[in-house]
Amino acid sequence: MEPLRFGLIGYGVIGKSHCKAVQTVPEAAQIVAVADLLEPNRQQAAADGAEKVYASDEELLADPRIEAVTVAVPTGLRDAIVLKALKRGKHVLFEKPPAMNAATIERFMALRGRLTAACGSGRVTFAPSVAAISRCVADGVLGPLRLVRIHVNKAAGKSPQKPPPPWRQSFCLNGGGILVNWGIYDLNYMMELTNWQLKPVSVMAQWWPVAGVYADRAADCSDADSHFVALIRCAGGEAIVFERGEFMPIHGQEQWQIVGGEGTLTMKMGGGKDKAVLWDQASAAEGVVSKTLWQGDDEFNGMAAQYVDFAQAVATGRAPRANLEQCLTMQRIFDAVYESARCGRSVQVGA
Ligand SMILES: NC(=O)c1ccc[n+]([C@@H]2O[C@H](COP(=O)([O-])OP(=O)(O)OC[C@H]3O[C@@H](n4cnc5c(N)ncnc54)[C@H](O)[C@@H]3O)[C@@H](O)[C@H]2O)c1
Repeated sequence: MEPLRFGLIGYGVIGKSHCKAVQTVPEAAQIVAVADLLEPNRQQAAADGAEKVYASDEELLADPRIEAVTVAVPTGLRDAIVLKALKRGKHVLFEKPPAMNAATIERFMALRGRLTAACGSGRVTFAPSVAAISRCVADGVLGPLRLVRIHVNKAAGKSPQKPPPPWRQSFCLNGGGILVNWGIYDLNYMMELTNWQLKPVSVMAQWWPVAGVYADRAADCSDADSHFVALIRCAGGEAIVFERGEFMPIHGQEQWQIVGGEGTLTMKMGGGKDKAVLWDQASAAEGVVSKTLWQGDDEFNGMAAQYVDFAQAVATGRAPRANLEQCLTMQRIFDAVYESARCGRSVQVGA
């Protein structure tokens, strides 16, 4: 298989990481051109080995050598570029969050045809432990699924030395705050672990902005969430309890759990050495028996793995990880969370 020829649009913080990741999988993908609006980032791209450097996405999209594009600009600027790329017949790997809203993802889907499109949030699903967990869930070892619990609160660190990025907690630049920035990884991870079987139907939610004492952690224009909680009911009677906060007045808390009628799995998202997935198993005689489902080094380069998955998807015509259908499911939850918090009521997902 020839490596898939990518153009990279946006050579900021995450664009540079894409470039490095692709260099580790030359058999699957290569970056043949980079576009950025800023001269220093273009110079950096050339220094990092880009064969061709453009000053705009339009010029890069017109380059006939490019088969696929990575769109690594903030969401508020990204959606229009994704639409242009699909119209020009390019496969598209776009950064997270997936889009500004679900209606935009439906527009991507309408243009996709036989092209491949996926979101960068899928990179968290390539951890070695994920396959073991999703197989355990698929085999019905936990009994009927009841609850997925996502509970992550990150402590506020020291006052920042650099100004915070303006897109980070902004509805117009990013489509939201911590929910879409990190909640997308949480949700993509948990949906993959449960084999995308959960069908969300309604949401009751609340969110809060960064607290006044930590105001310097957010740019002046910030108007979105830095902490949220949501109860998501699913069609099969399952529920997702979803909370994440950043810049929190609390020492770190992190727990992802899948609870069934006959067992519970407790795990951590992301890589790390000597990790364990705990399995509490129902026992009629003993009550609960605790075991280890999986243990080992959960180390992986998710970004590189996603390029390999994406290139194989293009070559074979199968769906990639974090494909548009999956993005739509997740984005509909985000839209419902914000709508529920705005109106103070339970909201139908996808309504
Ligand atoms: N910063 C991170 O750690 C991180 C991690 C994962 C994902 N992301 C996601 O990546 C996206 C970008 O974040 P970032 O931190 O890299 O932002 P950034 O501001 O550092 O970089 C964005 C770059 O895009 C360029 N750009 C904007 N519009 C362009 C256009 N039309 N054509 C060409 N270049 C254009 C800008 O000049 C800038 O260099 C965000 O959506 C974010 O959620 C960021």
